[in-house]
Amino acid sequence: MIKLSMKLNKTTLELFVDEMKPLSQILYEDLDIDIPIRNCSHNYCGNCLVILEKEPVLSCLVPAYKLQGKTITTFDSFKQSAHYRNIRRTYDALNCEPCPICYEAKTLIIESMLLKAKTKRIDNNIDDLSRKFLTKAIDDDEKNQIDFETAQREFSLNSCDCLTSKDLYNIVTKALDDRIKRRVL
Ligand code: FES
Repeated sequence: MIKLSMKLNKTTLELFVDEMKPLSQILYEDLDIDIPIRNCSHNYCGNCLVILEKEPVLSCLVPAYKLQGKTITTFDSFKQSAHYRNIRRTYDALNCEPCPICYEAKTLIIESMLLKAKTKRIDNNIDDLSRKFLTKAIDDDEKNQIDFETAQREFSLNSCDCLTSKDLYNIVTKALDDRIKRRVL
């Protein structure tokens, strides 16, 4: 057992848990936070996704000892934020959104990409899904660019194929424009 201290959805908490207990189980069993992990086989669905620091992670694969002192955001909390309203507006504007099964996970992946994109404006040709184009789309900051493989890895964390990479890219670019315009960065 370890005494785990972490920040969950802006609240700092401490609890005693087995050091190998996965975050998904901690959320469900110890904190009464429901995340959609039903019908998952072999840790493949990707629907248990949360944001750990600024990174999207599969909560069923993160043991308690890796959470010490970390900040975690679940969809439940995220959906109360201005950032979520920005993404929701974008889904409506594009008439394009994840299916109900992966909605929470894909929305958090999009949020993690937007957190990295920050203030960088994207003005590439949206028809060109090139390496350069995706790299710019999730530019970490002015100095540290995230490479194409990282982008693809984030997309592939969720196995549902209801949206294509191009759909996701369009959502990220339009949501970023909206954030810049409304100053909700
Ligand atoms: S519950 Fe399916 S990948 Fe985590």
